[in-house]
Order: sequence, then C-alpha cells, then structure tokens
Amino acid sequence: MTFRRQNKNFRHYLVKGIITANMTLLIQITDTHILPPGEILYDEVDTALHLSETVQQINRMRPLADVVMITGDLVEQGDTAGYEHFLELIRPLKMPTYVIPGNHDNPKVMTDVFAGTSCFPSCDNTFQYAVDDLPFRILALNSCCTGSELPAFDENRLSWLKKELGQSDKPTLIALHHPPMLTGIELVDMGGSEWFQGLKSTVAETNHVKLVICGHCHTDMSGRMGSVPVYMAPATAHQLVATRGLTIAPAAINVAGIPVLHHFIDDDFVSGSNQWPANADDIRIDKKSGRSWHELKQSMMGSKI
Ligand SMILES: [Fe+2]
Repeated sequence: MTFRRQNKNFRHYLVKGIITANMTLLIQITDTHILPPGEILYDEVDTALHLSETVQQINRMRPLADVVMITGDLVEQGDTAGYEHFLELIRPLKMPTYVIPGNHDNPKVMTDVFAGTSCFPSCDNTFQYAVDDLPFRILALNSCCTGSELPAFDENRLSWLKKELGQSDKPTLIALHHPPMLTGIELVDMGGSEWFQGLKSTVAETNHVKLVICGHCHTDMSGRMGSVPVYMAPATAHQLVATRGLTIAPAAINVAGIPVLHHFIDDDFVSGSNQWPANADDIRIDKKSGRSWHELKQSMMGSKI
C-alpha cells in the first residue's frame, strides 16, 4: 500500500481513458476494531480475520477502487500495538488508503504510528486533513471527544472546515466517524444533535459538498444533514442489533459488514454495498447461461435496439 506509487497508477488510468475524471471509485469500510495480534473481541469476534477477508475482497473488485477510506474505530483500545496490527492487516490493499479517528481511537497515537505512511496526513491539533489529488475533494474530519464516546466538533475543527470549504468549490466528500444526524437508535443518539449544528450550517452555506460518509453505528443507514446525503457504512468488525425509539439495550452479532462503494460519476456520488466473492467470475450470468454478455444485453433491450 504505497500512496505515491498507486497515485501514479491513478493518473495512468486517466491517460488511458479507463477511468475518466468524472468516474472515480471510493471504497469505504469502517469500525474495524482491531486488537493486538491473537486477541479476540468479546471472546467471540475475530476482528483481524474480518478485516483481512475484507481487504482481500476489496482487492478482488474490478475495476479496482481508486481510494479506500476507513472511517474510524480502527482499533478497539487506541493502543500502539493495535494500530501496528491494523497497519499490517491493511498493507495488502492495492490502492491509496486513508483513515480517520473514531471514539475508540487515539488521534495522537495514530499520528505517531501512521507517521511513516500516507494514511493519516493530519498536521495540526484538529487531526483533520484534505485530500486534493482526486477528481473530488475529501475533507477528513475528527468528531472524537477525549474521555467520552460521544461526538464533538469544536470551534477549532469548525474553523478548519470553514477555511477548507472556502478554498475550493470542487465537488467534496466529507468523512467523519459519528453520524451528523439523528438515527433513532438510543445508543447512538445519546450525543444529541447540538454537536453537529455548526457543521450542518457551515456546509449549508456551500453547494459543493455532495456527500457525507460515516460509521459508528455498526449498521448501514442513509439519511441527510440538511440537503446533503449522509451514508453510514456497516462495521467490518460486528453489527448492531438495535430497536428504534424504544429503550432496549442493543446486541452485537459476529457478522462482518459489506464494503460500501461510493462511485463519483457525473460530478456526484452513487453509493451502495458492493459484494465481490472469490467465485464472482464463475457465477457470472454469461457463464451460467452460455451466452455472451453482449448477446444477453441485446436480448434485454429487445425492440429498443
Ligand atoms: Fe465502532
């Protein structure tokens, strides 16, 4: 996973016309909750196995994604050993990869451990950063609060965002860990809605933020922050079983979430989960039907050819 080398590949695709400036693929995974090697979460969830299998799945996809964003809770305990294990697990990824902190992370420890990589290029005490070398801009935000799992977005971070949004009107994707919307899940909504009001009103003053992506809930969900779509990816580690609107404690199940593909096309994003099993080529409909994909498309179009 070498950012510089892969970035050259991205430009190569542009030259060859395989991926145009209006078609770029971002894969999002989130909430990987990695522990030091050999440790199992809740005595049940092998988070390292889930991440390793997810990395293999991402590397199988065609075309390969241009970039991967991992939206927080990278590790379970915010410790150096956990981050070093995390880095070892994502190293096989064939494309540039970025990370942001979640409530289980420690941004200072992340800064130290990721210093030799290009995964976390924050350079100030906001622990936020921008990615500028794609056809869209990524603004990677920090919604973590020291000493609490609840979200926070203070004036310092908000000022950084205002400055960055004012510097370019390029289509922009915002990545942060906590959902900047109410979800109806009590465990998640305990932080209230006040924390994201500044973020919401700042983004509302622009018209170039196309999508907000987040994690945290360990479930897939879509909503809005004002007029901007919010897409929440399911966790790679384990999923939440949660009621809506009732005071019932949630449960967790040992199931890895599917990677989410955010496809930048026609200056906007279309998003959804993207399975790519190892036998994807064997089960293609052209292989099973014995007809070429071109023939199948023609039969589907019928009289509209
Ligand atoms: Fe999480």
